[in-house]
Amino acid sequence: MATAASPASCFHSWSCNERGRQLSLSSSLFLPAASTNFQRDYGEKLITLSTYRSSVRRVPGFLSRKHKGFKVKCSITEKNAKPRLLKVMISGAPASGKGTQCAYIVEKYGLLHISTGDLLRAEVAAGTENGLKAKKYMTKGQLVPDDIVIQMVKDRLEEADSQGKGWLLDGFPRSSSQADALKALGIKPDVFIVLDVPEEVLIERVVGRRLDPLTGKIYHLKYAPPESEDIASRLTQRIDDTEDKAKVRLQSYAMNVGALSSIYADVMQKVDGNRPKLLVFEEIDRVLTDLQDKYERGLTAGEEKIEVPSGVIYENKDNWRGIPTRLNSIPHSREIREYFYDDVCRATKNAVEDGIHKLKVQITIPELNPEMDVYRIGTLLELMRELAFSFARDGKRVKVCVQGSMGAGIFAGMPLQLAGTRRMLEVMDWGEYESKGTFINIGSIGANEVTDNDDMFILMAPQNAVGNCIIDDLQAMVIAAGDRPVIIVNPRLKDLPSAAGVMQIRGREKRMEFAGSFFVCYNFRLLYLSGTQYPILGALRMAYPSQYELYKRVDLDSGKERYALLGTFTEEPTTEEITAAFDGRDPKKLSNTGGLWKILFGSI
Ligand code: AP5
Repeated sequence: MATAASPASCFHSWSCNERGRQLSLSSSLFLPAASTNFQRDYGEKLITLSTYRSSVRRVPGFLSRKHKGFKVKCSITEKNAKPRLLKVMISGAPASGKGTQCAYIVEKYGLLHISTGDLLRAEVAAGTENGLKAKKYMTKGQLVPDDIVIQMVKDRLEEADSQGKGWLLDGFPRSSSQADALKALGIKPDVFIVLDVPEEVLIERVVGRRLDPLTGKIYHLKYAPPESEDIASRLTQRIDDTEDKAKVRLQSYAMNVGALSSIYADVMQKVDGNRPKLLVFEEIDRVLTDLQDKYERGLTAGEEKIEVPSGVIYENKDNWRGIPTRLNSIPHSREIREYFYDDVCRATKNAVEDGIHKLKVQITIPELNPEMDVYRIGTLLELMRELAFSFARDGKRVKVCVQGSMGAGIFAGMPLQLAGTRRMLEVMDWGEYESKGTFINIGSIGANEVTDNDDMFILMAPQNAVGNCIIDDLQAMVIAAGDRPVIIVNPRLKDLPSAAGVMQIRGREKRMEFAGSFFVCYNFRLLYLSGTQYPILGALRMAYPSQYELYKRVDLDSGKERYALLGTFTEEPTTEEITAAFDGRDPKKLSNTGGLWKILFGSI
């Protein structure tokens, strides 16, 4: 424990343990009237103690205490460590305000601004070969081919003035193929900012936009009018800033936004762009400052340290918001549902890209459990649609399948929770881009559903019913699909008893072996005490290719809840391992795990 004498009269004493995890302050503090920094040098480490007015700035829970309206924060940095440079991507529909916000970001953070729109317009103006090719697409509002744009960005990033600076990519990538190209170059953003603006507002912004060719400043006839007559007289309008072309650009954005959101889900920050420019920037600024703060504290973008009431600090490493909370309250908000859709889509896509063909998605939150409440079937359908779209956007022809009526005679019928779902799939909104019938088709489960036209199959909750077994049809379909992906979502393939005992007898072992042979690419379960469904104690999450992550639900003083990471496991942890981790014991040393306290997985 390193202890220091007061760095200034306001602190009687302060101390910090060697891992920087605990901070103690003397009981009587007199804090100065303004935010202040105090620094102490501890060999390799530099410890900074800062005070903030809590009303001015919300300091994350990490080592913070509130005194007389102030918060105190301690951060520890490696001495001589190079500051981490910010890598930012900004995305959003045409006229959502990317260019406007980039000007503010560059001014404050000094990042290298690379706008593919600006680079292309410069090529067009210079009459280069690429410019001539690009112009044909840009005037129609279409995306310029990847080979031109990707090379252009790559060249720009390699130029001398890009070195040693952070960067701000504006309007790139715009499709999953462009994102893949960046990934291949080892380029990943720290944050992917998405400006969210309703379509009707966008059109008005497009047609009213004007540019000052002298300064490059963006104006709007209504929202950001020129400051003088002089400026007004020289303003120009972009050739693609007409209503018709804006609609084409909007369509192309709509087709790609889902794919990009799922690729960058772990670093995505949605920002409401339908507010005054400075308010929008205020939020972006907060996001970037928080990121810088984290880097200063030696954390990575997705990492956060939170203090739980016991005083123990758990690490919470997850995406931008962590695991959604209040998961027992249904219906869930769209934001929570989207979190799970993105998570599932990303993991499934990773597995398919790695050549795994028989996949299983298991997500057992109350919102997706139609057994608890039939309305939840709608969420399951929505998940199916998002999953299908995530592949269709990459040009895959996806067959979405739900089993039909099974059996014969008195055993004919189908599981209650799937009743009517085929019809719902048929009439569902599959987007305005005529994807249904081309990229998306609806089918049943069975070998005859597999045609040469299909690239992959997504099966909605295949399940056995009393007296009927879906496994034979499923197996035949998997064989017919060959090496094309078959993804089963929330299957229930356990044998169910029937009055005649039909299902359990012949071939049961082989059927169960087949049912268990799907590769789990996504697994999310809530954890409860045995026999209960309330309160939620924690969650288990595995999104391929990551490990299983075990979270404990923590109630914070503020009345909010968070999920704190207790540990990771290469394989799905057993009940004993989970119990040990919750008890603070090493799950690998399970010599004595006795006791009545057991945790049961939530199950559909
Ligand atoms: P690009 O120039 O990137 O166009 P875009 O994405 O359509 O975006 P915009 O520049 O139109 O809008 P913005 O979001 O920057 O909004 P702005 O701040 O100006 O690309 C043009 C073309 O190049 C594409 O169509 C494509 O052909 C090609 N291209 C580019 N990148 C490509 C890629 N990666 N791959 C393939 N092709 C590519 O604001 C708009 C207006 O709204 C302004 O008048 C502004 O004053 C006003 N405004 C902004 N914020 C607010 C606010 N908060 N409130 C009120 N008004 C506001």
